[in-house]
Amino acid sequence: MVRAKDLVLPSVAALAPYEPGKPIEELERELGISDPVKLASNENPLGPSPRAIEAIKAALPELNRYPDGASFELRRRIAERHGIDANRIFAASGSVEVIHLLAFLFLRRGLNSVYSEHSFAIYPLATAAAGGEHKVVPTNDGYSHDLDAMAKAIDSNTRLVFLANPNNPTGTIYRQGEWKRFLARVPENAVIVADEAYFEFVRDAGYPDSLQDHDDDRRLIVTLRTFSKIFGLAGIRVGYAVARPDIIEMLNHVRQPFNVTSLAQVAVIAAMDDRAHIARTLQVNAEGIDYLETEFKRLGVSFVPSHANFILADVGDGGAVYNELLRKGVIVRPMGGYGYPRHVRISVGLTEENRGLVAALAEVLGK
Ligand SMILES: Cc1ncc(COP(=O)(O)O)c(C=O)c1O
Repeated sequence: MVRAKDLVLPSVAALAPYEPGKPIEELERELGISDPVKLASNENPLGPSPRAIEAIKAALPELNRYPDGASFELRRRIAERHGIDANRIFAASGSVEVIHLLAFLFLRRGLNSVYSEHSFAIYPLATAAAGGEHKVVPTNDGYSHDLDAMAKAIDSNTRLVFLANPNNPTGTIYRQGEWKRFLARVPENAVIVADEAYFEFVRDAGYPDSLQDHDDDRRLIVTLRTFSKIFGLAGIRVGYAVARPDIIEMLNHVRQPFNVTSLAQVAVIAAMDDRAHIARTLQVNAEGIDYLETEFKRLGVSFVPSHANFILADVGDGGAVYNELLRKGVIVRPMGGYGYPRHVRISVGLTEENRGLVAALAEVLGK
């Protein structure tokens, strides 16, 4: 009998699917723990914008209709927000959809993507799914992108360079100087994907906003942003790309016709204007990061200073600590799959959740 895996690209047959953070319901089912704390997927602990919930409720009676396939109003509002034309915006079912479409468009056998080791797991997945080749560049200090080395790794067969700024799972950033140097060196055949999923959380003055460096004549940059993080709408799946209109046109050639649902479109339009929710989220996150970093220092747990809404912490044996924390009702993310067997990644939660995590971690580590 022919098996499906014999009929697909070998790189696809060999793939290990993306492993998401453990869902709350699964922990409840498996260990009988009620009300666990989930700090595993870099979600917004405050919940969605109340305005988004209202907009979703108001749109429910129209669910018999297909969505606006062009996401016209959504793209218009995003474009307005950035002061650019809507033909430079591509709306998607999460920024992950854009990553997959870019790989599908630009990669195939013999063509490669360049990305950093210890970076977002979807870059290798999307590359392999498209049958492309991988150029994985070592970090410069164990955690941060080495943009000079990444520029050097680009060759005439490179079509995509994936940069996560801040990076997941390390929370590190690259700054203006490195970024400008990198831009000056990238040849025209390589599309630079600046994945800025955690853009809004960054407090560092040297952080570059890649939208400022789009230059129609000199280089191809695709900036990725998402509504999954600061806007608290991970479940509804909306992200977007900003790029030159000819790239947007190609993305439109290969996307499915209704890739952003009608509820998603109205929800994110409402959330975009919810300044109170955004401000509270930023405050909760800044306080949470400061609290966790202070407590980790007190416990003698080394960590990577974070520019995002999560922290990578060295706990000695990441897998064991992850399992112990699960038994105490706290879900974090083990990092073996990202090449950090000693670490766990902890998303910032509400004050009580952060306290619970610190107390549980102190017990597990015997501190
Ligand atoms: C670096 C990075 N890019 C993209 C995403 C995915 O975002 P979305 O929910 O928009 O697909 C994440 C989510 O964890 C991420 O960490």
